[in-house]
Amino acid sequence: MLEHFFQPKSIAVIGAAREEHKIGHDILKNIIGYGFSGKIYPINPKADSVLGLKAYPSVNAVAGGIDLAVIVVPADLTFQVIDECARKGIDSAVIITAGFKESGSEGAARERELLERVHRYNIRTIGPNCFGVINTHHRLNTTFSHGHPPAGNIAFFSQSGAVCTAILDWALTEHIGFSKFISTGNNMDINEVDLLKALEDDPETRVILGYIEGIKDGRAFMETAFRVTKKKPVILIKAGSSVAGARAVSSHTGSLAGSENAVNAAFRQSGVLRANSLQELFVFAEAFSLREIPQGPSVALFTNAGGPGILASDVVERSNLKMASFSKETIDGLRRCLPPIASIYNPVDTIADTGPERYRTALELVLKDDNVHSVITMLAPIALIDERDIARVVGELAGKYKRKTVVASFLGGLTMKPAVDVLAGYGIPNYRFPENAVRAVDMMYRQRQWTEKVREEPEVFKGDRGAVSAVFSRARERGHLTLAEGDAREVVAAYGFRLPKSVLAAARSSAVEAAEEIGYPVVLKVASPDILHKSDIRGVRLGLEGPDEVGRAFESVVEGVRRRVPGVHIDGVFVQEMVQGGREVILGVSHDAQFGHLIMFGLGGIYVEMLKDVSFRVAPLTKSDAWEMVKEIRSYPLLKGARGEGALDVDAVVEGIQRISQLVVDFPEILELDINPLVVLPHGSGVVAIDARATIAPG
Ligand code: COA
Repeated sequence: MLEHFFQPKSIAVIGAAREEHKIGHDILKNIIGYGFSGKIYPINPKADSVLGLKAYPSVNAVAGGIDLAVIVVPADLTFQVIDECARKGIDSAVIITAGFKESGSEGAARERELLERVHRYNIRTIGPNCFGVINTHHRLNTTFSHGHPPAGNIAFFSQSGAVCTAILDWALTEHIGFSKFISTGNNMDINEVDLLKALEDDPETRVILGYIEGIKDGRAFMETAFRVTKKKPVILIKAGSSVAGARAVSSHTGSLAGSENAVNAAFRQSGVLRANSLQELFVFAEAFSLREIPQGPSVALFTNAGGPGILASDVVERSNLKMASFSKETIDGLRRCLPPIASIYNPVDTIADTGPERYRTALELVLKDDNVHSVITMLAPIALIDERDIARVVGELAGKYKRKTVVASFLGGLTMKPAVDVLAGYGIPNYRFPENAVRAVDMMYRQRQWTEKVREEPEVFKGDRGAVSAVFSRARERGHLTLAEGDAREVVAAYGFRLPKSVLAAARSSAVEAAEEIGYPVVLKVASPDILHKSDIRGVRLGLEGPDEVGRAFESVVEGVRRRVPGVHIDGVFVQEMVQGGREVILGVSHDAQFGHLIMFGLGGIYVEMLKDVSFRVAPLTKSDAWEMVKEIRSYPLLKGARGEGALDVDAVVEGIQRISQLVVDFPEILELDINPLVVLPHGSGVVAIDARATIAPG
C-alpha cells in the first residue's frame, strides 16, 4: 500500500529550482544527498541540468516510467502539472506547494478543483501544503529538512509541517530513529486512516506516532485504528477542537460532550494511546520503540536514593500499574546483599554508596522475581561511583531478563551523559525525570491490556421500533423536533425503561383523581412542549401527601408557569408516582460530527452539574464498555455501596446504557437525549426513568 510513496524506483521533482535554498532545489539535494538508489528526474523548463542531473521541461519528456512526483511549483501551476502527471501515468504525488485550503476561500476552491482532478486521474496524493515524506530504510528523503533522521522503528505522521521540522530536529539531537516520516499537510486525499493502513503491516515500523488536528471520517478511523492497535501501538497527539460544538445544545449531555470527550472516547475504544503533549509523545515512543511491553501491571522501583523512589511511587499510585510485592526469597536475598540501612521492599533503595557489584546482585534478585513485570532503575549522581558501570549492569541484566520491561531514570544532566550513552547502547530508554519513566511503563502496560482485551460484539436489545417511529412522526408533523416530555418518556419506555406511574391531568379534579389512583406521595410536573427545564420555572412539586396538597399544587404550578413564561402552551400537569430510595444518575446521548453518537453516564444532581463527573463512549457499546463507563466516574463508590450503604442495582444501569446505545443505533436521527434523573434502586430492584427529553433531526 502506498508503495510508490515509500519505495519508489524513480522520482520526478517538479519545480527543481536551480538556486540553492529554494525549496524545490533543497528537496532535490536531499534526495540525492541521502543516497536514493533509484532514478531521479529534475523537472524544470528553464534548466538543462540541476545539481548535476539532466533536467527535463516536463515529466512527459522523460523516457522511463516515474513512480513518484514531488510537486514544488507555485499553486497556480499545480493543475497544469497534475494534468501532465496524469498523461505520464504517474499514480503517486507529494504536493509540497502551499496556497490551498489553509489560505482562505480562494485556496479552498483551488483545493477542491485539485482534489477533483486527482480523483479523476486516480493519482494518490500526500499534501498539499506539506513537508514531504522520508523512508529511512529506503534512503528516501523528499523533504527540505536539514539533515536526515537516523533509521529506526518509529513511524511518524503529522498534519503540521512545523511540528515535522521540530520533531526532525529534535530526533537528530536525541538520536531517535524513524522508519517513516510523513507530513500530510492538508490531508486532501491521503489521510490518517490511509497511513494507519499503510503502516499496519510495515515490518520496519514497531510503533506509530501521529500529530493530528482533525479526523475526517471518525468511523473509518475507529475501525482501522481498532485493528492496527492490536498489532502495534498507535500513539497520537490530537490538537485543536472540532466544530462539533457549534450547534446549539439543549441537553446536559450536549453541553458536556464536546469534541474532547468524543476524541478521548473514540481513542479509548479503538486502542489508540493519547499523548497530551509533544514531550509525552516522545516519552512514550522511546519506550515502545526500545523495549517489550510489560507482561503485567507489577512494577519494581530500584534506586540508590530515597527521593526519586518516592516521586516515582506517587505516580505509580495514580496509574494503572501497581507496586510489585516481592517474594520472600527476593526479600531474604536483598536483606543478605544490601546494608542494613537499605530499603529491601519496593521501592528498593540500595543507598548511595552502592557499587556495580552490589547493584548487580540486588537488581538481579528483583528481575528474577515472578511477581515483577517491569523495573525502573533510578540513579542519582554520586561522586563515589562511575555511573557508566551501573549503566552496564542495567544493560546486561535487561538483556538477560528480556521478558521484563526495564527502563531507566538516571537523574541529572552533564554528569550522567556518559552513563546515559551507555544505556542507549544497550537499547535502554532513559528518562531524566522518574515520573516520565513511570508514565512510559504505564502506557506500555495499557497497550498490553488492550492487546489482551477480547473482542466483544454489542448485545442486541429489542425495542418497540414501531412505537418510537410513531412518536417521531407525530413530533415532526407538529414541527416540534424537541420532544414533549411525555413523548420522550414513551421513547425510552419502548426500549425497556420502567417509568414511574404517570397520568396527564388537564384539570384540578382529574389531578386529584389521578393521585388517589397512583397512591401518595406524588409528584406534579407541568406538561408543556415549550418548557425543557421545568424546575427552573418552578414547574415541579415533590412529595405531595393528600388530595388538598395535590389540588393546591395543581393551581400554583399552572398559574406560576403562565406568569413566568407568557404565552406558554400548557397541556396540563403530570401526576407521577414518587420514586423513593436509590440514587439519581443521568444517562444521555449527544451527536458528534466526527464520531457519531456519544453516550454519557454520570451521577445526577451536583455530581453532573458542578463536578462534571461523567464518562463517555461512542455508540454502539459493548457490555464491557458500559461497565467501564460506570466504573470510570469518581463517584462510582456511591453506587457500589460505600460506608454501610447498601449496593444499588449497577447491573441495571449497565443494561440501561446498552439499551440507550441500541436505541440510537436503531434511530440515528436522535440528536440528543437525556434520561435525567434515572433512579437506581437497591440491588435487584432495577432503575426507573423519571424524566426524559430528546431532540431529533428533521425527517
Ligand atoms: N514544471 C516544472 N518546473 C517549473 C514549471 C513547470 N511547469 N514552471 C516553473 N517551474 C520552475 C521554475 O522555473 C522554478 O525554477 P527556477 O528557480 O530554476 O527558475 C521552480 O519551478 C520553482 O518555481 P518558482 O516560481 O521559483 O517558485 P518558488 O520556488 O519560489 O516557490 C513553492 C514554489 C512551491 C515552494 C511555493 O509556491 C510554496 O508553496 N511555498 C510554500 C511551501 C510550504 O511551505 N509548504 C508546506 C511546508 S510544511
